[in-house]
Amino acid sequence: MTKRLDGRIALVSGALRGIGLAIAQCLDADGATTIVTDLDQPDSEAVATAIGTMTNASYIRLDATDEDAWIAARAQVAETYGHLDILVNNVGADLTGKVQDIKLADWRRLMTLNVDTVFLGTKTFQPLLAKGGASTPYGSSIVNISSIMGLVGMGEVSAYNASKGAVRLFTKSNALEFADNGVPIRVNSVHPGFVETPLLHKGMKSWAERDGTLTAQQLIDAMAQTTPIKRLAQPIEIGKVVAFLASDDASYMTGSEVVVDGGWTAR
Ligand SMILES: NC(=O)c1ccc[n+]([C@@H]2O[C@H](COP(=O)([O-])OP(=O)(O)OC[C@H]3O[C@@H](n4cnc5c(N)ncnc54)[C@H](O)[C@@H]3O)[C@@H](O)[C@H]2O)c1
Repeated sequence: MTKRLDGRIALVSGALRGIGLAIAQCLDADGATTIVTDLDQPDSEAVATAIGTMTNASYIRLDATDEDAWIAARAQVAETYGHLDILVNNVGADLTGKVQDIKLADWRRLMTLNVDTVFLGTKTFQPLLAKGGASTPYGSSIVNISSIMGLVGMGEVSAYNASKGAVRLFTKSNALEFADNGVPIRVNSVHPGFVETPLLHKGMKSWAERDGTLTAQQLIDAMAQTTPIKRLAQPIEIGKVVAFLASDDASYMTGSEVVVDGGWTAR
């Protein structure tokens, strides 16, 4: 049976855990040849475990904040496949706290992780994606992982809000630039709500330590309760939407922001 991503080559940044791993698994399940990238060494247990959950995946160590690492990854992909069809810029971290308490170094680090990584992935792989897009009917696909925090503001989330808002508009600008210039790459952003991942647990732990009134688990329970469908998302629920955007099923979508939040921003 043919699958909708058969023959497509995909690369996902930050794909050994959480949402990135689920995205890679969904692309793999839809037939894509999937390149998992992350910080761990290729011979690590995490890499073996992640790759073992997929049928046609490989691993490249890629620090997504490092331009030289992106260029080296592009050379490897060019040599092995000659082109790329799908790029998912997933790497990201969070930072919470009052503006008065945020250190400039921490602010800059977050912007590097959440914004520079999207810029670098896009810039580096544009030529290979354009090549892939030229040989498919509806072009290749970039999916940038933003957040509901790229759509609406929240107190003590200013740095993360600013970074994810930047990803939202970078996506739209890119989509227009490519469309205006006949570059066959669709570009869309995905805006997850609260997703059960290591990042969420780590973020709530530091919020609880700072706040001192609620435990991390109480904060997580409160998140579920303030979500209209009363639960957190599982990473695969984001991965399936990304796989759709990556496929020709989303042939008329570019510059779109796709919200996957259990109704959180519907109010
Ligand atoms: N978890 C949520 O509730 C949630 C909600 C909305 C958006 N997001 C966004 O989804 C994306 C993934 O989040 P997650 O919750 O799965 O995070 P996570 O921390 O659970 O996983 C992130 C992965 O990225 C890797 N990584 C970190 N820095 C890297 C770097 N410099 N280069 C390469 N890889 C790196 C980590 O090793 C890890 O495997 C992020 O952009 C995040 O902002 C998450």
